Amino acid sequence: MREISVFGGTSHPALTAEICAHLAVPQRPVEVKRFANDCLEVQLQSNCRERDVYLIQSLVRPVQENLVELLLMADAARGASAARVNAVIPHYAYARSDKKDAPRISIGGRLVADLLVTAGVDRVLTLNLHSPQVHGFFSVPVDHLHALRELAGHFRQRDLSNAVVVSPDLGYAKSAAAFARRLGLPVAAGAKERVSDSEVHITAIIGDVAGHDVIILDDEISRGTTVFELLDRLREQGARSIAVACTHGLFADNALDKLAASDVTEIVCTNTAPLEAEHPKLTVLSVAPALAEAIRRIHDGESVSSLFDH
Ligand code: R5P
Repeated sequence: MREISVFGGTSHPALTAEICAHLAVPQRPVEVKRFANDCLEVQLQSNCRERDVYLIQSLVRPVQENLVELLLMADAARGASAARVNAVIPHYAYARSDKKDAPRISIGGRLVADLLVTAGVDRVLTLNLHSPQVHGFFSVPVDHLHALRELAGHFRQRDLSNAVVVSPDLGYAKSAAAFARRLGLPVAAGAKERVSDSEVHITAIIGDVAGHDVIILDDEISRGTTVFELLDRLREQGARSIAVACTHGLFADNALDKLAASDVTEIVCTNTAPLEAEHPKLTVLSVAPALAEAIRRIHDGESVSSLFDH
């Protein structure tokens, strides 16, 4: 069996360390240099020849820097004769750029997928892509995990006798329904229209939320625009309490503080993005065990989908 070599980029060292600890493998060193002309150079400081190489890099702020770093790591691994180059991308930020919904716009999700493959990536392991069809942008195998098991495990500790799961939009309703099924709960969804990055309208909620304890479930919270709009509708419709859960807690523009200052009972996310801020209302669940198990299975040629089926 080939050896596993795990390298982490600079985006999320804590997650890389946790994954390595679960796999009981050393984290291999990487040197990233910046030249006077602002170009980066990456050196993988451990042998890659004929190894199964895993490059862990979340596409979080600064996204462009982290992306180029990952591309350079892949190129370095391929050039060093790695047997297989696996990109582990806990948060694939460009997934939000997945369609041509305005004239003359780029579709970054597809372009970045092509860049990764051109750089030498043979396989991608990722979590909760903004929309499932982004998977198809990659011309190499993708193992697309979700964090519903982790999130459901958290909410199972709560009193769910009066709870309902609410997706902010119909696009995420299928995942919200899968989450609700795990908890034996009903599901509802908002009718959402995004006007711009900072403006969304939710005109109605399909399903019964009045008098219920709502668990909002979304793939990510960025500025929080979606969640704040949904909170307004839920309050208008008489929800009894509201908790918020997502996979990718990006919390741009102070969204965490603003959300924590609102009447939500709790905020739950995973650690696909690094989070320095803490708050008594915030729980961060680790996806490191799931990613480590997926890596082990990929390496050993075992089924990954059977582990993480919806
Ligand atoms: C949008 O379609 C997604 O599912 C999320 O609702 C969105 O990305 C969250 O972004 P924000 O928090 O800025 O509304």
